[in-house]
Amino acid sequence: MSVLKPTGSIRRRLVIQLAIIAALLSLAFFFTVRFVAEQAATDTQDNILAASATSIADAVYSEGGAVRLELPYSALSMLGTISEDRVFYRVIVDGETLTGYEDLPINEARNASRTPLFETMEYRGDNVRTATVSRTLSVGNQSRTVLVVVGQTRLGLAAISTRITTTATAVGVGFFLFATALSAFAAQNALSPLNKLAESVARRGPNDLRPVVATTPTELVPLVSGLNSFMRRLRDALNRSEDLIAEAAHRIRTPLATVRTQAEVIHRQMERPKNRNSVREMIRAVDESSRSAGQLLDHAMVTFRSDQLETQDIDPKELLHEVVDRLSPTAELKDIQIDLQLPNNDFSISGDPILLQNAARNILDNAIKYSPGETEIVVRLIPSDTCRIDFIDQGRGFADADIRNLTKRFSRGTNVNDIVGSGLGLTIADDVARAHGGKLVIGTNDNGVGACVSLVLPLS
Ligand SMILES: Nc1ncnc2c1ncn2[C@@H]1O[C@H](COP(=O)(O)OP(=O)(O)OP(=O)(O)O)[C@@H](O)[C@H]1O
Ligand SMILES: [Mg+2]
Repeated sequence: MSVLKPTGSIRRRLVIQLAIIAALLSLAFFFTVRFVAEQAATDTQDNILAASATSIADAVYSEGGAVRLELPYSALSMLGTISEDRVFYRVIVDGETLTGYEDLPINEARNASRTPLFETMEYRGDNVRTATVSRTLSVGNQSRTVLVVVGQTRLGLAAISTRITTTATAVGVGFFLFATALSAFAAQNALSPLNKLAESVARRGPNDLRPVVATTPTELVPLVSGLNSFMRRLRDALNRSEDLIAEAAHRIRTPLATVRTQAEVIHRQMERPKNRNSVREMIRAVDESSRSAGQLLDHAMVTFRSDQLETQDIDPKELLHEVVDRLSPTAELKDIQIDLQLPNNDFSISGDPILLQNAARNILDNAIKYSPGETEIVVRLIPSDTCRIDFIDQGRGFADADIRNLTKRFSRGTNVNDIVGSGLGLTIADDVARAHGGKLVIGTNDNGVGACVSLVLPLS
């Protein structure tokens, strides 16, 4: 079970941020295009209005002391180029309207100048843009001021503006969608080395402590080198603890063996039964400690090796031969026969031979220990879709109430009486079976009294 709490995905964050940037750029694009286009349209209309007003102003002349105007056709027709907008004009000489719309407002504040002045105003219910130019005309020996105002409604302009807005919106939305899709692609692409690295780390076995050598993006080098150095330290620590286990086993067992031998010698020399009993108790305590120390260290070794399981092809027949040979002397002391039943065909299992031997030895050791003398123990290898090794004895068998707990550490059955033990043998066998993907089955001998313990392992 993972204790990691993922807090959001980098990819999602990247895509969202890039999409926000794309949206802002789209908006900026939209407003810029609209502003520039409207400005351009307004400038175009202003230029035509100015040209029209100037050409009308130029057409004003004096004749016989009066001011006259020959309205040039082109002056108003040029305004017709912008859609169907209505056109207004007014010519004023010294404040008197000479011709045109008398109510068309003029800019009173303007100075006489040929530079046109532009204005936007409400006139006759419409929005109207006007250009005003003025000129001075000499009539006889008087100089008179001529003002020409030309106005045009802005419907065409509004239509152009709407068209530009629609286009700019479509382009902006298109740009946004395209940029967002690109961002998703770019985020995916940018994160692909990260995914590759994560995959290569995830693909490793749980006990693989070799350094990560997959190609690493620069930003992840500190993380990966941190991980590698952590794994190196862990590997070193594990190696050290393996050495420590071996060393400790040696240092505890040896002095205990000496104490035991000496105690035996003293026991033999003692005459008073009370003293002899005390020494017997002492020898028993030494046996218990020695057994506990041995089993504890074996268990530590099994845990260590199971964590870094190094498997090889093993012939289970050979393995059983070795285990039986090793325990035969103990069995002979009790006149117990070990009947090793092996199949004829050859097959192999994959595993750690030291662990498997340890497991088998503990099970067989129990069978001998908990059986009375002059009985028989059957060690039977049954290959089918698994490799099953049964250890069947004719001893006291398991107490039903115990069975579920016997694979727990230090748990001994209610049937042990005065037999020395530490309660770790079946724990070791069960751990080894599990480390190899198999299981330990604790049951009873189907043919009469006794126990049947089976080690079930997958075939290789
Ligand atoms: N073949 C058997 N027949 C009867 N009881 C058994 C047998 N094997 C194991 N047991 C019971 O299961 C218990 C647990 O066995 P286990 O091997 O784990 O511990 P142990 O034999 O007591 O101590 P040790 O760690 O020294 O082997 C034993 O105490 C015993 O009660
Ligand atoms: Mg045991």
